[in-house]
Amino acid sequence: MNNDVKKLLIEALVDQQEIFGDELFVKKTFDVNPNQFKTAVDASSTKYNANEQSLKVAERIETETGSSLFNEDFMNAGTIAELNSQICECQKCALGKTRTKFVFGVGNPNAHAMLIGEAPGADEDLQGEPFVGRAGKLLNEILKAVNLKREEVYIANILKCRPPGNRDPQSNEMETCTPYLHKQIDLIKPKIILCLGRVAANSLLNKKLSLTDLRNNIYEFNGIKVMATYHPAALLRNPHWKRGCWEDVQKFKKLYDELLEN
Ligand code: URA
Repeated sequence: MNNDVKKLLIEALVDQQEIFGDELFVKKTFDVNPNQFKTAVDASSTKYNANEQSLKVAERIETETGSSLFNEDFMNAGTIAELNSQICECQKCALGKTRTKFVFGVGNPNAHAMLIGEAPGADEDLQGEPFVGRAGKLLNEILKAVNLKREEVYIANILKCRPPGNRDPQSNEMETCTPYLHKQIDLIKPKIILCLGRVAANSLLNKKLSLTDLRNNIYEFNGIKVMATYHPAALLRNPHWKRGCWEDVQKFKKLYDELLEN
């Protein structure tokens, strides 16, 4: 849900509650964004109990009208290119103002494997492509070591915009941005995902695990196998982790090959 719309809705509902108490009347004039409310307002004059403010009320309206108030257009994208063109001007969080380029993702839209990193760095922000800096060069080498080419897989990040100074992604930024990644996954339909680093893996899997736990198990996201390894930038700082990464990508490639056979 767009944060501006959410804020407007909350304000409107709180005002309404102050005036009318716990009964909410949804009328045609309840018009934050005509497109988003088009179907919902057809249920105008319907009475709803609104004991709680804000989103609970919005969710209730959605359930009771059977229509989505916040059905965002990007969810209807039929191809990766269409999705990109629908979201590339995103300003849903503060990173939209500080980015140079929106970093959507790169690679084969029909890839069987997806690699997911954390967020664009300085080089990616300038070029609009994930993993093109030093970490990206190392990632290409890692892929080459298991006979995979960058063009063969699909590479994306949890965040599409660079956090200033490469700080860690904030949870509100990840929450806002992950629906885009989920839609990318939905369109590409990979058989396997390799998460690069703890932040990317925990964010995708909605967990709070150590990288050791993440590396030692195979998880699933919407029926897709998910594995994790070190982030290439971490390998640049700590080359002695390369052996562990090598073992991880061997396992990843073995499972990838098995999944392709079936
Ligand atoms: N680190 C990431 O996580 N992603 C990039 O695209 C580049 C560096």
